Amino acid sequence: MKNLMKVLSSAMLVLVVVCSANAAMDEDSIRDRTQPVGKVCVEGEDCGSATASVASGPRDVSDIYQSSCSGCHGAGVLGAPKFGDASAWGDRAVKGVDTLVSNAIDGFNAMPPRGTCSACSDDEIAATVQYILDNSK
Ligand code: HEC
Repeated sequence: MKNLMKVLSSAMLVLVVVCSANAAMDEDSIRDRTQPVGKVCVEGEDCGSATASVASGPRDVSDIYQSSCSGCHGAGVLGAPKFGDASAWGDRAVKGVDTLVSNAIDGFNAMPPRGTCSACSDDEIAATVQYILDNSK
């Protein structure tokens, strides 16, 4: 009977040790998995210099034109006046630049509001319209 108790208690001891080892491992792996996003560093990466790139300063008008307008105005899609086409833009310019700008901001027939550049300010749209006109003389 004494021997049985010894066997049982050492079995219990082993169980306790195994359990607490497991618990410690779990805690570690939980801590690993719950790191804030910025702290997780993937193996092979240079972890000291991870910086988010933030656009600084105003966008360049030619960049706005290229990314938001050239899709239609480059080739004349949907009847859009083509970039560089002096007569097409000359016809439009008769309305006055202010009208062209407000139509570009608000949308005009198949011309979508802001030419789909929802992040563009009114001033940026105005500058882009001017850029198109300057290059379509
Ligand atoms: C989805 C195609 C599309 C995109 C993108 C687009 N346009 Fe247009 N745009 C048009 C079409 C089509 C017209 C001609 C509308 C008409 O006269 O019926 C037009 C006309 C214009 C006009 C003349 C408006 C007038 O009053 O005659 C201006 C100015 C203009 N677009 C500026 C821009 C600028 C600036 C951008 C980019 C920020 C842009 N567009 C992006 C299709 C587009």
